[in-house]
Amino acid sequence: MCGIVGYVGNRKVTPVLVNGLRRLEYRGYDSAGIAGYRSGQLRVYKAAGRLANLEQRIDGEGVVERCGIGHTRWATHGSPSDSNAHPHTDCTGNFAVVHNGIIENNGELRQWLQDNGHAFHSETDTEVIPHLIEHYYEGNPIAAVKKAVQRLKGSYAIAVISREQPNQLIAVRQDSPLIIGLGETENFLASDIPAVLEYTRSVYILEDGEIAVVTPDRVEVYTVDGEPVLKKLFKVEWDPAMAEKEGYEHFMLKEIHEQPRAVRETMRGRIDPNTGLVNLEELSLTASRIQAIDKVVLIAAGTAFHAGLIGKSLIEKLARIPVMAEVASEFRYMDPMVDDKTLALVISQSGETADTLAGLREAKRRGAHTLAITNVLGSSAAREADDVIYTWAGPEIAVASTKAYTAQLVVMYLLALHLAVSKSRIRSDYARNIVSQMQQLDDWIKCVFVAHEERIREYAQRWTNKGHVFFIGRGADSYSALEGQLKLKEISYIHAEALAAGELKHGTLALIEDGVPVVALATQHALLDKMISNMREVKTRGAELLAIAAAGSEQMKQITSDVIFLPKADDLLMPILSAIPLQLLAYYAAIARGCDVDKPRNLAKSVTVE
Ligand code: M6R
Repeated sequence: MCGIVGYVGNRKVTPVLVNGLRRLEYRGYDSAGIAGYRSGQLRVYKAAGRLANLEQRIDGEGVVERCGIGHTRWATHGSPSDSNAHPHTDCTGNFAVVHNGIIENNGELRQWLQDNGHAFHSETDTEVIPHLIEHYYEGNPIAAVKKAVQRLKGSYAIAVISREQPNQLIAVRQDSPLIIGLGETENFLASDIPAVLEYTRSVYILEDGEIAVVTPDRVEVYTVDGEPVLKKLFKVEWDPAMAEKEGYEHFMLKEIHEQPRAVRETMRGRIDPNTGLVNLEELSLTASRIQAIDKVVLIAAGTAFHAGLIGKSLIEKLARIPVMAEVASEFRYMDPMVDDKTLALVISQSGETADTLAGLREAKRRGAHTLAITNVLGSSAAREADDVIYTWAGPEIAVASTKAYTAQLVVMYLLALHLAVSKSRIRSDYARNIVSQMQQLDDWIKCVFVAHEERIREYAQRWTNKGHVFFIGRGADSYSALEGQLKLKEISYIHAEALAAGELKHGTLALIEDGVPVVALATQHALLDKMISNMREVKTRGAELLAIAAAGSEQMKQITSDVIFLPKADDLLMPILSAIPLQLLAYYAAIARGCDVDKPRNLAKSVTVE
């Protein structure tokens, strides 16, 4: 995945582009580049590595006049290098292009263009685009771009500038996000809203197959067939400061600490103050449609999938509807048993994960009612699903997902309760009790910070030189364990493995020896005795055992002195609380090992390629 920015107006262009790219670095950060005008010439600057390398390379003020485009890259075709960095140009140097996505027929197009005399300078799929525009150019850049994109297969968000129209950006969207920020006598383009928040909160969200022509005073949007499109204006409510670090050393730590707010905001307006029950009136899913649902499928990737697994345990327990949870990258290849009685839940922070979107489309094709749970307003998942529930976590910048995860869990609780009450599977009093405990979650999370953050920071030092960490749990805790191990490995690069504690003796116990760290999640009262046996199993074999348990589980202390006691909530709610120490452990272990926490190697925030 990559990030795109564009600007047209009267400001100095380089700082606007570089600021925008900095906000989009979470989308990829192995090289960066900008293109624009200086002394009437179209100039391109690019550099492998972080944005700082590009800034060094820009001589003096870089591009200064009127208009420019920029790109931060996460390599898919061609290694991260200066020559593969965007923008790419055509043979004449008339057009510069930045692109996010994948051109699937790149091989065939490249051959055809080379046969027609075009010389290529990179290994990227993107470079076919400026050459195609050059091929079709007969004096009108917009017409040339339209013809060029008709030849492309795959996903793309592109921005184009042309030497002969130095006051104009052309942008096209197909399966990759692109927004337009509206200013006064200036306009912006970007892959995501945080890149323009410093300048404007008024945005248009481009739809697939739309072309935008952007000048300082006008934004015109057309379909690829040339029909004008009347765009709906989105007013962004986020404070620009929400996309900044606000004094925290890393976005991840800031986002961990934003969870009380994320949880509260995600519940806001979804609890009926009169009944004390969940009210999801934003859904088009009627009571009779809910009655007819005989199966739920959950489609998601990574952390969102772990939220889905916890959702599965909740929906099955409360609403007694069978749930099939599948990783998005597998879902569409398994001939899934989905029909018009299926509710398909698609969970995605970004709403742009390629596999998750493909899963959504597959479920829809098979007749399911699709419901997206996403954090990004107007994202592809939000637009394509029949229904959407937004997680109001605010922009999540760190690659490791934290506040979006707990907000997704909140939605899982709301939805499970809503389905359960609608199907009369639980009593209203019981639902009301869970809802009222949910309203205390923000305070309980704050208590976890106060009581444990410093201890966890110290504890995580012990993992500085560890090669492996194991996470075990039973029931919902086994799903929390999966999230704990993913968080640890993605940012600290320590190998970690999670398993249902009962599975230990079927193989993994062979790896437990003196000094091996094991994190035991033991928050589920009904399973506590069994968990305690598993903890003794690993302790006897020399494991360094850290337990995460609910307050009051005093037996824990007999097994290990390292126990994190969480506020005593209903067992159902414990996954939200146990997520906090797991995130902090990963964060402080990564810090102790000197890792780049917000931008872990080889990873991007949102994976828009399959
Ligand atoms: O935007 P999405 O929620 O669809 O992203 C899914 C995964 O790529 C994401 O959760 C990933 O696993 C995170 N880096 C984990 O922290």
